[in-house]
Amino acid sequence: MRDAEPKAIHLSDYRAPDWLVDKVDLDFSLHPSQTRVTSKLSLRRNPAGAPGAPVVLDGDGLTLVRLAIDGKPLAGPSFEATPDRLTLAHPPADAFVLEVETLVDPTANTQLMGLYRTSSNYCTQCEPEGFRRITYYPDRPDVLSVFTTRVEADEAEAPVLLGNGNLVESGKVDGTSRHYAVWHDPWPKPSYLFALVGGRLAKISDSFLTRSGREVELGIYVEHGKEARAGYAMDALKRSMRWDEEAFGREYDLDVFNIVAVSDFNMGAMENKGLNVFNDKYVLATPETATDADYTGIEGVIAHEYFHNWTGNRITCRDWFQLCLKEGLTVFRDQEFSSDERSRPVKRIADVRALKAAQFTEDQGPLAHPVRPETYREINNFYTATVYEKGAEVVRMLKTLLGEAGFRAGMDLYFERHDGDAATIEDFVASFADATGRDLSQFALWYAQSGTPVLTVSGAWDAEAGTYRLDVAQEVPPTPGQPTKKPMLIPLALGLVGPDGRDQPLTLGNVPVGNGVVEVSEARQSFLFTGLDARPVPSLNRGFSAPVNLVSDLTEQDRVFLAAHDADPFNRFDAIQRIALEMLKTGARTGSLPATEALVTAARAILADTTLDAAFKAQALALPGEGEVARELAKDVDPDAVFAARKALRIAVGTALEGAFATTYSAMAATGPFSPDAASAGRRALRNLSLDFLAVTGSAEGIARAKAQFEAADNMTDRITALAVLTQHEVPEREAALKAFYDRFERDALVIDKWFTLQAQIAAPGTLDRIKDLMLHPAFSLGNPNRVRSLVGAFAATNTTQFNRADGAGHDFVTDVVLTLDGKNPQVAARLLASFKTFRQLEPVRRASAERALRKVAETPGLSPDVADIATRALG
Ligand code: ARG
Ligand code: ZN
Repeated sequence: MRDAEPKAIHLSDYRAPDWLVDKVDLDFSLHPSQTRVTSKLSLRRNPAGAPGAPVVLDGDGLTLVRLAIDGKPLAGPSFEATPDRLTLAHPPADAFVLEVETLVDPTANTQLMGLYRTSSNYCTQCEPEGFRRITYYPDRPDVLSVFTTRVEADEAEAPVLLGNGNLVESGKVDGTSRHYAVWHDPWPKPSYLFALVGGRLAKISDSFLTRSGREVELGIYVEHGKEARAGYAMDALKRSMRWDEEAFGREYDLDVFNIVAVSDFNMGAMENKGLNVFNDKYVLATPETATDADYTGIEGVIAHEYFHNWTGNRITCRDWFQLCLKEGLTVFRDQEFSSDERSRPVKRIADVRALKAAQFTEDQGPLAHPVRPETYREINNFYTATVYEKGAEVVRMLKTLLGEAGFRAGMDLYFERHDGDAATIEDFVASFADATGRDLSQFALWYAQSGTPVLTVSGAWDAEAGTYRLDVAQEVPPTPGQPTKKPMLIPLALGLVGPDGRDQPLTLGNVPVGNGVVEVSEARQSFLFTGLDARPVPSLNRGFSAPVNLVSDLTEQDRVFLAAHDADPFNRFDAIQRIALEMLKTGARTGSLPATEALVTAARAILADTTLDAAFKAQALALPGEGEVARELAKDVDPDAVFAARKALRIAVGTALEGAFATTYSAMAATGPFSPDAASAGRRALRNLSLDFLAVTGSAEGIARAKAQFEAADNMTDRITALAVLTQHEVPEREAALKAFYDRFERDALVIDKWFTLQAQIAAPGTLDRIKDLMLHPAFSLGNPNRVRSLVGAFAATNTTQFNRADGAGHDFVTDVVLTLDGKNPQVAARLLASFKTFRQLEPVRRASAERALRKVAETPGLSPDVADIATRALG
């Protein structure tokens, strides 16, 4: 473990590295508890560094065996080695080869950073600071080097040996049971992109011909017996490779691209050069074991990691403050890929739902931070929705402002200028400014100012003049460390919808707004639209063109109109959601729902609209979640009241539209064998949404329908949604179905995760005890991140009533798990603790309980830096 009280690191303190590494030769002799790592660093003094600076290499818990300089062993006072640092105060020359031998214990590595074991295989995770747990190294992203890696292992224990780049040599080690492989990566890279894998793995192979004629060998490695489950991932990989050539002109640059699926992984996946390592959740799928959401997740994450080859690897980050340079941009790219592969509006709706649920919530609480933070204590805690998802929104706004051609010109210039660099956000923004001639200095505030802007909009119709004036005010609320803000540049896409439901001309003064986007840049601003025949209803922030909270003077009637007629599908969705949200807020505040006819009318119209696809309807009709209602209420939230309001509204809609839902349920039945494509998935989504509404009262008929679907399902989507419906009701069918599900899938850990999650989400007082029992279940393990997330993580993140029990038992339970887990895996523990980020919006009793639980964590001695950082900032 590192220093208990890590120092804050500031962006403004950035200094170029004092020493560079021209090349590095690594030799790993794999052993379960004593892996020997020999590294030969060709060090060279950086002319841009501090003159005469010592060599200081990072380490983390390392055991040094041997040191040599230019082949001569080094001893005594010429160096100083601690587990966390190796210092040569007086380097012998301005360029020399330093040889370092360390011993590491992969079996004891429960943090899953550095070299560790998973299902008895060896693998690595180095981003952001894991390489220093393998050997001493300038472990920072702006030191790029050419890596050659020799891996040696017992052949029976690890028949497969993989590294970055291309395989250059392999063979047996004479007279032993061991063998080796040598991998060479010609592309200079930072240490965080290093990877190695060794173990007993099965391979599925394919190939890809790049547009300039390079034949790339593709491999996906999985546990033996799971080969048949990797087909969809391979298909997604090939589609990603083609898409990046077509959409961004980016071609793959090695002869091999390998993916390895492992079952113990802290995050989703990792873009190591030529050797991506994946959480197996984002690789393995069959219709029987994976839901439609799993398939889209696999497609998105495979694409994401592949796209990093250009946005992340060929151009990397100068320092970790620039994390969004690769992550925000790469999320944007994977979102665009999925939009092109599936339905663009439905993908946008899903992305915005996820953005609001995770990022808007983060922005509204004590963990808010800018897309590019300026200070951190533990960088692992900044792999956040703000860096990733808001980072992607910023890139999307850039595209909206510059247009398709301007955006592409900026991207091309960025690749041209910075290929091979460790770059900054300034470099990125300058590429767009220079390619288009546009001043982007105000736009760059999106990277620096945290908090979700509030855009307050009202309209004034002048019938005589035929004009409509839109008055816009913007305000960015205060966030930690940022009490006051400057106005932002906000691209506001809009339309003026006429009484016939069609867009009226959008003319400012007498200039047509060609792209449908006005630019809000001041604190208060008015836009006068002319040449209108009738009072329009404004359709604002179309496509969610800017990640803002919009407050408008639209009436419920205006929204019913937009839900039925808006030419922008996103805003049809948004209109109906807003109608529901206002009802839910009133219901939660007053304890009784207002009249619900408007929602029923809008929902009926959407359900009956034959021009809309099923996936869209399913999104539009799924009511806003409890989390979104709580975030909108913003203070004194009683989660029980929110839950009750939502339940009442579901019953109201389900009852009023029972006939329509029953018809839809039958109409959306499968017509052929299972296929994960978007259209089929959309039909399943709408059918399952109907099932949920039909069973919402817990009527015998509804439960029977869910039970029948559960038993007859030929795919996981239908089976798990039926089971989810059953688990929401306290009926005997629930426990029977849970047992049947377990018996059927008990050998399949990823499926059992779904079983854990459903039980963690039951909104009833018995849930906490159920979870405590499940933690003792043989299928559960605190050592496996997927298990922890599916049970305890799902509870804390989504079971708003039970996590926030008024007696505090939910809070205490989660912090107890955090403290136990911290000794094993601080990253996963810290992420779990971050579910307290919304505690300040709770009503006083629950708020006090959460605060007590957080204080108890903060006061516990010996915390990891990860957990200490979250506890401190959450209490802020
Ligand atoms: N770069 C990876 C991705 O976005 C995430 C790795 C983060 N890992 C970590 N331990 N913080 O695809
Ligand atoms: Zn990424």
